[in-house]
Amino acid sequence: MFSELKPLPTDPILGLMAAYKQDNNPQKIDLGVGVYKDEQGNTPVLRAVKKAEAFRLENETTKSYIGLAGNLDFCQKIESLLLGEHSALLANRVRTAQAPGGTGALRVAAEFIKRCNTNATVWVTTPTWANHISLFEAAGLTVKEYPYYDYENKGLLFDEMINALKQVPKGDVVLLHACCHNPSGMDLNQQQWQTVAELAKEQGFTPLIDIAYQGFGTSLEADAQGLRAVADQVDEMIICSSCSKNFGLYRERVGACSIIAKDSNVADVSNSVMLSVVRSIYSMPPAHGADIVNTILSSTELTQMWHDELDEMRGRINGLRTLIKESLAAKGVDQDFSFIDRQHGMFSFLGINKEQIDRLRNEYAIYIVGSSRVNVAGVSKDNIDYFADAVASVIK
Ligand code: LMR
Repeated sequence: MFSELKPLPTDPILGLMAAYKQDNNPQKIDLGVGVYKDEQGNTPVLRAVKKAEAFRLENETTKSYIGLAGNLDFCQKIESLLLGEHSALLANRVRTAQAPGGTGALRVAAEFIKRCNTNATVWVTTPTWANHISLFEAAGLTVKEYPYYDYENKGLLFDEMINALKQVPKGDVVLLHACCHNPSGMDLNQQQWQTVAELAKEQGFTPLIDIAYQGFGTSLEADAQGLRAVADQVDEMIICSSCSKNFGLYRERVGACSIIAKDSNVADVSNSVMLSVVRSIYSMPPAHGADIVNTILSSTELTQMWHDELDEMRGRINGLRTLIKESLAAKGVDQDFSFIDRQHGMFSFLGINKEQIDRLRNEYAIYIVGSSRVNVAGVSKDNIDYFADAVASVIK
């Protein structure tokens, strides 16, 4: 049976990560996979996480099963983080399941959508995170795209987006990136979120908000404002969140799938379906990472420490955006890269072609995703000159 299989191409992002590891060039730069890096190029364990882990090591009393929805205190804290003061207002209508990372949360959402409506189409931004499309298709859903990023003007195709969403019927799902759009870094402003929220209400489609970078854009609160504007309007929505980036818990796989239903009864029924989905995929989520998050968010001291570390990460990323823009301009490149400074989160498209991307990799050992997406956090004061020289040379 196995010998009938045909080999598949490696994942465009994770394949790059493996290739980078094997490269012996001492000047190599990894601008591929979306992990935060400090000035030394490390992805450190946050201090708040280390403290919470030490506490857990001392105080953990059992390794017994955790239950389908995972750590319920964690779930409640995630709802507060996402919905702020709306979380109390919506409490009767929200149900959350801890999931193995943002991807696990999205897969739970996909299977849940399939149970709600086998014929649902999931509408995603053009472009979107490479894994979104395969993930929803793997769950048997149809995926279609709506216009989003304006490659030419490095902005948004907002009118085109709205016109496309006006055609989306009730029963379909529209995936929106809450902040730090992956891969473009181009976010909706609050007024645009409001328009989308009102349209969702009018059209009756179900918004699915993917929030994987809360705190990496403007602030923990500001990055959730769009999502909250939608929650204010609609009867039903799904939120898939991740603690990979903002808590730096990547390999611990911590995320959550939250469902908001029109009332408490529908929320309970939806929850039972979501938990049955969980049981059939992985039975129960792992305990460690969610316990760390819960420990941090249960302590004023650790929460403050985490906020400070998050501010530090965001500050560094924003500083690098300015540095990249200025360094490229200083190299005398004709192209205007000021858009990098206007975008948010870890990613932006450099807007260079495939041949130039290949040259960056083959001649300079600079690894960026084939779409020209760069993780700006991979740049540092030590490598910026090398990076800017390389980009200037390939785009000449
Ligand atoms: C990314 O977009 O690089 C990250 O979300 C990591 C991943 O799983 O692709």
